[in-house]
Amino acid sequence: MARYVIALLAGCLTFAGHAPADEPATANRDKTIVETLLRLKNIDVNAKPPLKQAVLRYLQTVQGTPRYLEIIERFEIQDNNQQLLHMLQQAPASTAGVQAARLLLQFEAQQLLQSGLQDKDDQLAIATIRALSIVSNNASTALLQPMVNDSQRSNAVRNAAIRGLGRNLNGQRFLLDMVQRDQIEQAFKFTVANALYSSPDATIRKEVAKHLTLPQTKGSTPLPPVAELVKRQGAAGTGQKVFNTIGTCNKCHKVAGQGKEVGPDLSEIGSKLSREAMFVAILDPSAGISHNYETYLVATDEGNVFTGIKVSETDETITIKTAEAIERTLAKEELEEIVKQKVSLMPADLQKNLTVDDLVNVVAYLLTLKKQPAASAN
Ligand code: HEC
Repeated sequence: MARYVIALLAGCLTFAGHAPADEPATANRDKTIVETLLRLKNIDVNAKPPLKQAVLRYLQTVQGTPRYLEIIERFEIQDNNQQLLHMLQQAPASTAGVQAARLLLQFEAQQLLQSGLQDKDDQLAIATIRALSIVSNNASTALLQPMVNDSQRSNAVRNAAIRGLGRNLNGQRFLLDMVQRDQIEQAFKFTVANALYSSPDATIRKEVAKHLTLPQTKGSTPLPPVAELVKRQGAAGTGQKVFNTIGTCNKCHKVAGQGKEVGPDLSEIGSKLSREAMFVAILDPSAGISHNYETYLVATDEGNVFTGIKVSETDETITIKTAEAIERTLAKEELEEIVKQKVSLMPADLQKNLTVDDLVNVVAYLLTLKKQPAASAN
């Protein structure tokens, strides 16, 4: 039966070959061929070039639909792997993105996935990590593991890899092993502690507590892991007061024109960051430093050292803004060195003066700071 159908399909294709200009007709024929093939069991499309061409042409017409991935999976089409990588990088947390990641793992396209993980654009690398970590199987875990201590990568990428590994037990065990061997660098301890303190496995939670602590809040009360903090509802009004008083956030952030501007303006931060990302931004500022807000250290010939955010730079001078919102312009010829830092100018221990409730309230407040819908034309 299958043989007969294939012969029939092949005939169909020969005919198509004679009428190349007739595109809609070709498209219709391709569709019929694919539909017929789908009904056949054990058909190896990859071994039959003309049929495969029809399938590949058909795929072009269903890009962006669930059908696209369905056909690729069913016929094990590996010609569109690059496109799959693109899909998962564009929408890593979507069903299609995760499915694309799963297929690439199934096709053992490790090298291509590696290229995604190694992307020079941090956002694309992080998107690849995200999709892989949602797939969360042994193959994805194996790809993420070496990234934890890869000093060539930015903190944001390495933290994303840690969060990704923290999503499943195998990854958690891997991280715990690194903790026990004291292989986790300081900058990543918060992310690792967070992942492991929220483990469903009590042994992992108990073991990590011997090595790492979560940041302490006011009165030395240890903070619950972020996974628990996000479940609490705060009071935005109270949070606003904390922001402008004991939190000292307004010393560095503007909201609706109020406050100093050392760090990013937070007037629309509620449209940018999720609740979880908000806690991480406050508790572990260096985990993913916002673009253009990297800290620079400049040392003068005389031995003075300044740190701040680079405001501008010319051939002769560099202007940096310190944590006190003071701008300093320094002549480059008087400088010994200018070094970009891996730590944020935002202090990592702000929660020390806050209670857990203060923190939850500040986050509730920040989440209300949304982009205003554009004013209507009339
Ligand atoms: C000494 C200055 C300073 C203080 C104080 C400070 N921040 Fe920041 N903050 C920064 C800088 C600089 C950045 C950008 C670098 C980074 O992302 O770490 C930042 C980044 C952030 C971000 C991420 C913004 C984005 O666009 O992703 C949030 C959210 C934030 N701060 C909230 C707070 C809150 C809440 C407080 C008070 C509890 C606070 N900050 C106190 C300097 C500060």
